[in-house]
Amino acid sequence: SDVELGGFPHFMLKEIFEQPETVRNAMRGRLDRDAATAKFGGLNLTPQQLRSIDRFVLTACGTSWHSALVGEYMIETLARVPVEVEYASELRYRNPPLTPTTLLFAITQSGETIDTLAALREMKRKGHPTMAICNVVGSTIAREADGGIYLHAGPEIGVASTKAYTSQCVVMALLALHFGRLHHLSYEAGLRIIDDLERLPSLVERALTTNAECRRIAGKYAGCENFLYLGRMYNFPTALEGALKLKEISYVHAEGYPAAEMKHGPIALVDENTPSVFIVPRCGVYDKVVANVEEIKARGGPVIAVVEEGDRDLAELADDVLEIPATADFLQPIVAAIPLQLLAYHIAVLRGCDVDKPRNLAKSVTVE
Ligand code: G6P
Repeated sequence: SDVELGGFPHFMLKEIFEQPETVRNAMRGRLDRDAATAKFGGLNLTPQQLRSIDRFVLTACGTSWHSALVGEYMIETLARVPVEVEYASELRYRNPPLTPTTLLFAITQSGETIDTLAALREMKRKGHPTMAICNVVGSTIAREADGGIYLHAGPEIGVASTKAYTSQCVVMALLALHFGRLHHLSYEAGLRIIDDLERLPSLVERALTTNAECRRIAGKYAGCENFLYLGRMYNFPTALEGALKLKEISYVHAEGYPAAEMKHGPIALVDENTPSVFIVPRCGVYDKVVANVEEIKARGGPVIAVVEEGDRDLAELADDVLEIPATADFLQPIVAAIPLQLLAYHIAVLRGCDVDKPRNLAKSVTVE
């Protein structure tokens, strides 16, 4: 209804704009400055169990699977604990060799996705502790897991996930902090991560000011039938998620790739009608990604670059830029997701698509 939409034309846009608040809600009450760590009410694991965990399996479907990939980069970097990311639809039949001290996280907005539920049940049957990272309180996966963490993002109505995704990424960062502090992260490093997290809602707010520019850029490229999304390291999953958003709601073909992999295939697609969306804030591999941008430009492909505010070099190199505020590398996926959601949204609207209820898709897939 109009009341529920709160003045927005679509739930998706409303939910995109809720993200400063939902990102804050995902960390509310979970940052412990005294211990320089993150704490969770519902893990239901003894301190001894927590310390003995030597591997994580993160399983999910769709957008939630992309948050698992972000989690892999965060947890392996900050906590130095090995992480496997598995599509739930694969994990449920795959029987991978795992240590008894492997902890499963099932990541799911709805808590009802049948493949994720089956993967959770299978891991539970094998004796692994299972955790749900879930938005919908009291959902099947939340109830069946041994413990879990709620996103507190509020109801997500748009079929294409937006605010649940950024909240999942926040929870991944909290887990990286928590397990990092259990193992080797110093008190000071823990505090720096807390500072970065506390600044995040205002950075998300600032990233939302790209909306008008996203609409303008959408107008320029809405007629294109193929897009590439390219990023590296923390922004490789961002590229996958940006491409998925566009596919889901605008029915435009889009592929996400780690930027350097484009040489091994996708670059053959590049022509003047195939834009490449680069996610290239300043980070450890910035120069490498700039070189990838130059390769695309040399082949006549238009480049839309998501860059850090004030990045003159890319402003010159790219056809269009979307500026996002600087943040710690591990939080870039959360800030960079915002303009990609908005870009997909405006392209879909311009193409006359039903953004909140895209054809052939369901909000949660409860049959195999
Ligand atoms: C469906 C939705 C996606 C979602 C996926 C996983 O495909 O359309 O937006 O990412 O299911 O859903 P879940 O509720 O498990 O996160």
